[in-house]
Amino acid sequence: MANEKRVDLTAKVINLCQRRGIIFPSCEIYAVHAGFFDYGPLGVQFKRNIENAWWNRFVVSREDVVGIEGALLSPRTLWKASGHLDSFTDPLVECKKCGLRSRADHLVEDALKINVDGLSVKHLQQMIDKHKLACPKCKGTLLPIRTFNLMFKTHVGATADEADEAFLRPETAQLIFADYKLTQFVSRKQFPFGIAQVGKAFRNEIAPRNFVFRCREFTQMEIEYFIRPNKLDDCLLLGADLLDQEMVFFTAACQENKTDALRMTLRDALAKRVVATRWHAYWLAECFNWIVSLGINPARLRLRQHTRDELSHYSSETWDVEYEYPWGWKELMGIANRTDFDLKQHAKASGKDLAFHDQATNEKIVPYVIEPSLGADRLLFTLLMDAYRETGEGTDVKTVLSLSPQIAPVFVSIFPLMKKDGLAEKAREIFNQLRKDGFVADYDEGGSIGRRYARSDEAGTPFAITVDYDSLKDNTVTLRERDSGKQRRIPSNELAAVLRA
Ligand code: GAP
Repeated sequence: MANEKRVDLTAKVINLCQRRGIIFPSCEIYAVHAGFFDYGPLGVQFKRNIENAWWNRFVVSREDVVGIEGALLSPRTLWKASGHLDSFTDPLVECKKCGLRSRADHLVEDALKINVDGLSVKHLQQMIDKHKLACPKCKGTLLPIRTFNLMFKTHVGATADEADEAFLRPETAQLIFADYKLTQFVSRKQFPFGIAQVGKAFRNEIAPRNFVFRCREFTQMEIEYFIRPNKLDDCLLLGADLLDQEMVFFTAACQENKTDALRMTLRDALAKRVVATRWHAYWLAECFNWIVSLGINPARLRLRQHTRDELSHYSSETWDVEYEYPWGWKELMGIANRTDFDLKQHAKASGKDLAFHDQATNEKIVPYVIEPSLGADRLLFTLLMDAYRETGEGTDVKTVLSLSPQIAPVFVSIFPLMKKDGLAEKAREIFNQLRKDGFVADYDEGGSIGRRYARSDEAGTPFAITVDYDSLKDNTVTLRERDSGKQRRIPSNELAAVLRA
């Protein structure tokens, strides 16, 4: 889609989500809090397909990664140790007059139409002062920036004691660190190995926006990959295919010097110390390639390094895979080198020895961690934006979601040409058989064939089968491909094999 057409793409995708019940605001009948969303029948299947594709690629098909599922609520002690209680904050500005609270970086971005990713609180305050920025609602004076902790707090049991305070996890990662020792023991994994988790995370975002891109409850898919500290460059998985792959690197230096991003191979990025370690480089390429394998246009992806001011408290180096959204280049996922920060913090706070005792060398090892972290909702929204197309002209414009068959919510639609003369019965027979064969299928007999194709294309269904009068005679059906519109006749008993291929 050309750039000018992308301007209203966000509104169109959100409209489609609401119209087809893919995603919609949670508790809409009460409409109290922004930033919470519910997924309808198409949306929940789509999200599950994405999570399953991630799990299959990064857990099931790998020998070096195992999975866990941690609790959503954890004690204050864990979040104090991880640093989230003190440092997991966003810059908040409040209007002196009307009390409106905004995120300082968003306010500066919206007012000055610039990207301020990576700027410190001090720098943001300087920009607000220099440009005399005022409240976006009433033009009142803004109070100085404060920091606002993003965690949701509650108490466990009928108590108000600080010791019983608990927080909904703002990242799934900390449960992996808390469970790390036991998980390594029971899975008998040697370094390097990873622990993966898919689950909910909660952040009391000051200003949730852009639909599910930034919400208050979302799903993360995270891996903590544990490596001996002296083996960060010892990555046998980084073969020539990955080393020779070109990607776009928007380095911290490019951002500081205001120069363009650099296109180079991973081999050059390592040689020039753009990326510090080979394991980090490996995970950058793995994540980038998986995202592309889901059908996202690689020309809209780049790697952006966090600037020194922007790095999280636990990170020595972080790269975001960014996507070019209609509202600019923004983080789709992050890949951080968390060093040994978290395990050391938890060992100190809990008094438990979290080091690995290497019997061969009699060494105590606290591993370093590379962390690929991706939001399932954000990825889903990105896939929708990237797959959205319009065909036809004027009043005949039709929406098509060109989603990859591996993640599309419905794999195949089945239509009888007419409801009468036994066509509906024949079509239902095929529908039931395909579901037995493991396909997510949809049966639709309402309206003209053209309208049914349009409904199916709009839901991103890659294949449609039509049962007509010839089907009753020779047991063949028409199989139509969504993107090419190509149709071919095939025997119905070969459908499962053809669709699988
Ligand atoms: N454990 C590291 C971590 O949580 P993060 O960059 O804060 O790092 C990782 O989050 C990913 O989670 C992001 O790249 C994004 O995909 C997703 N994410 C973060 N905040 C989100 C939000 N408010 N709404 C939706 N997705 C979010």
